[in-house]
Amino acid sequence: MENLDLELKQITKIYPGGTLAVEAFDLQVSRGEFLSFVGPSGCGKTTTLRMIAGLEEITSGQLLIRGIDNTRIKAESRPTATIFQNYALYPHMTVRENIQFGLMVRKLASSEVTRRTNEVIELLDLGDVSNAKENSLSGGQKQRVALARGLVTEPEILLLDEPLGALDANLRRAIQDELKLLQRKLGITFVFVTHAQSEALGMGDRIVVMNSGRVEQIGSSQDIYFNPASPFVAKFIGKNLIFEGKSTDSSKEKATIVGPLGVFEGKSSCKLADGASCIAVVPSEYVKFSKKVTGKKNYIKGHVDQISFVQNLVILYLRTANGMIQKLETHIDKVKGNNLDLGSEITITWKSENSSILRS
Ligand SMILES: Nc1ncnc2c1ncn2[C@@H]1O[C@H](COP(=O)(O)OP(=O)(O)OP(=O)(O)O)[C@@H](O)[C@H]1O
Ligand SMILES: [Mg+2]
Repeated sequence: MENLDLELKQITKIYPGGTLAVEAFDLQVSRGEFLSFVGPSGCGKTTTLRMIAGLEEITSGQLLIRGIDNTRIKAESRPTATIFQNYALYPHMTVRENIQFGLMVRKLASSEVTRRTNEVIELLDLGDVSNAKENSLSGGQKQRVALARGLVTEPEILLLDEPLGALDANLRRAIQDELKLLQRKLGITFVFVTHAQSEALGMGDRIVVMNSGRVEQIGSSQDIYFNPASPFVAKFIGKNLIFEGKSTDSSKEKATIVGPLGVFEGKSSCKLADGASCIAVVPSEYVKFSKKVTGKKNYIKGHVDQISFVQNLVILYLRTANGMIQKLETHIDKVKGNNLDLGSEITITWKSENSSILRS
């Protein structure tokens, strides 16, 4: 495992008041990986990042950086740098002074301080504002200075806690692209925390989905999106329709459930006990609109309860026979020829191989 940059072994954090913020977190990160952490507010993302940075004591478990035990090493001696959402720039210092501050504290020779500072100013295109102070910088520029301050210390791992949260949507997208390119160019490991799923999925080589202090799933964005490992992931990530039922037939790869709305077959990652409570997860992207039902499984009838159009997307709320509302987001071309007036009945179908059956 010599190419691992970071390893978390059963890392747990219990705050002094007794809050269990992170529980038995296991993770292995390869050198140069871009890892995203995503999860709802309070699930333990910041706590995990702060434990990696050494800003928060680890209650139990072990943290290795490049194979070396860092569990009890002080923050300033770890090869990490952290970028926070609020940038935390010093307002009385210029951009250049802000960037070189961390190097001065480390008592580097002044020629080295100048060389490294010039290098990141160039890298992040901050030459024009190098003598400006925080109050005259735009959001994007402040964000770049914060990045420069982290990178100038030449960390092996850069930890980013919602660094784009304060930016408007357009700037945020532009900086997402920049950040991704920068990470590729530098080849260092990035651990990026966000609670926006599109940001996590778009940026991460792998994504860690967290919930209530625990890891729900770790995988590529395709995996997390189309093969959710738990009901939580199915609800939190993607645009899934979810139908309940009880398992009636299951192998290691496939399962069938029967519920109030019908019979649903899909992929399964294990054999399910007969009668086990399950859900069928159907990504909106795989739903087809059908005039006539041909098979006996994997279809739903519903009435249009609400509809809206966003550019080339149709967002449809369907009221099903048991009175539940299912949200469906689909491309406008896929609904052509269907009557979508409020109250009209439509039938949707999908293939078994595009759906997952999960224990609920
Ligand atoms: N210093 C602290 N003392 C006690 N409890 C804390 C402390 N910091 C965080 N917590 C608790 O630990 C849990 C995890 O918090 P954390 O800040 O890690 O979540 P998060 O996933 O980063 O959330 P957000 O998306 O809102 O930033 C929460 O229940 C929070 O209330
Ligand atoms: Mg946080």
